[in-house]
Order: sequence, then structure tokens, then C-alpha cells
Amino acid sequence: MSVQSAARRLTAPDIRARKGGEPIVSLTSYHAHTARLVDPHVDFMLVGDSLGMVMHGMETTVPVTVEMMILQGQAVMRGSSRALVVVDLPFGSYEGSPQQAFATASKVLKETGAGAIKLEGGRRMAETVRFLADRGVPVMGHVGLTPQAINTLGSFKALGRDEASAELILNDARAIADAGAFAIVLEAISEPLARQITAEVAPPTIGIGGSPACDGQILVLEDMLGLSDRVPRFVKKFAEIGPAIGAAVEAYASEVRSRSFPAAEHVYAPKKV
Ligand code: KIV
Repeated sequence: MSVQSAARRLTAPDIRARKGGEPIVSLTSYHAHTARLVDPHVDFMLVGDSLGMVMHGMETTVPVTVEMMILQGQAVMRGSSRALVVVDLPFGSYEGSPQQAFATASKVLKETGAGAIKLEGGRRMAETVRFLADRGVPVMGHVGLTPQAINTLGSFKALGRDEASAELILNDARAIADAGAFAIVLEAISEPLARQITAEVAPPTIGIGGSPACDGQILVLEDMLGLSDRVPRFVKKFAEIGPAIGAAVEAYASEVRSRSFPAAEHVYAPKKV
């Protein structure tokens, strides 16, 4: 994607139309400042509920609230002007019924101005995806490893490696594709399965540890920048910002300790009368 492309904000139908075309580029973003940096380079930004772990040091995404998603969604919208912004619905805010999902999704879209929501789950969420899509809510699905289900899964491990579980994930992807999802995240699944799903379903697939066979890719920004302390094995780091911050802070601390920190008279000196 060209950095110089026109400054119209991309929409869910724009992403949907990219099936089988130029790979879709996406990253998570939770803040206005990272959104500003990422916006020119991606097709969509996800305000992922991974913010609970990445920003807040939570063990899982389960405690994340709708209020947290709205606050960070607003920040990302303020910091961006071009990429589609997708906001995750957090655990407990949509699974109860299609009506609960619509109430949460419409609140998120109204209060953030984002262009779409994402929710986790396959066949069990198909009715909800259809209910939302029929009522003007663009839905990105998410199948394979679904981190909000950690308490029933037991661990964040790759799925779909044996035939039976691959078949379940394929049916999950088919179900939400048929229900009207405009794109589907495939997390931590094998390449043959990602290839089969991508070939079969109409919406584009977005891989995260889901192999290059997908129509696009997403990573957690802090993971690929080397800022996170716990990074899944499949993540390639494109920078090591964590150690760079540590070195800058140490340089600052040593200037302060040695009293060589630059004087600021030009800022604080009283005005001559
Ligand atoms: O919450 C998140 O960041 C996600 C992705 C990484 C797909 O759901």
C-alpha cells in the first residue's frame, strides 16, 4: 500500500473487496500517538482487547471492559485519518444474545466513530454475526485460537493440527463467512488449514500466526516492535524499541545524577522588565 494514497478513510467494504488481491496490512493500535505513526502504512488498525495484557499487564483479555475499549478506540480515531479502525468487543459484552451484541456494538461504534467491530467465535456466534450485519454493524470474525476462551481452552496453544479440530475450525470460518462477516482473523492455525479456509470463504482472511496463506496479516504492534515481555513464538520482531527506551532512560538518569542535565533558563528565567 502506498504511503501517498488518498486520505479517505477505508471502510469495511473496502477491506472486503480486497479478497484475493493485494495483501491486507494491519496492526493493533491502542493510543493516538501509535495510531498516528501506523495510520499511513496499514489498511486497518485493530483496537484489540490484547490491550488488557499489553497496556495494563493483565494475565488474559478476560477482565477487559467495554469502557476500556471505548476509551482507547476514541484515542486511535483521534490519531488516525486513513485506515479503517476496528474495535474488539470484550469478553462478556456480546455472547449472551444477538441483542446484547447489538447494544454493545452500537455503543462502541457511536462513541468511538470506528468503522467496524470484531468478535471471537465461529458457529456459536453465526446467528449474532448475521443479526449485527443485517442491522448495519460491520463484523470482523475471529476463529482458531480465541484468547477470550482461555478459561475453557486452558492455554494459548496452536489449534487445528489434527483432522478433527481442523474440521471444526473450517466449519467455524464457513459459518461466520455465510453469516456476513466482512473479514475473518485466523489465529494460530496450521498453514494447510489457513490455505483451505482462505480458498473456501468469501471474505478475506487475516492471519496472526495463521501463515502467509491468508489474504492479509495482523500483529500486535508492541510485539513486533520488541516492546512486549511475552511474545508468541511466531512473531517476527521488526525493531527492538524496548532496549532503546531502556538506554535512553539510563542516559537521562545519568545526566540527572551527574548534575549535567541541560539548564532550562531560557524557559524558566524571569522576564526582564
Ligand atoms: O486483541 C487482539 O490484539 C487481537 C489480534 C491480535 C487479532 O485480537
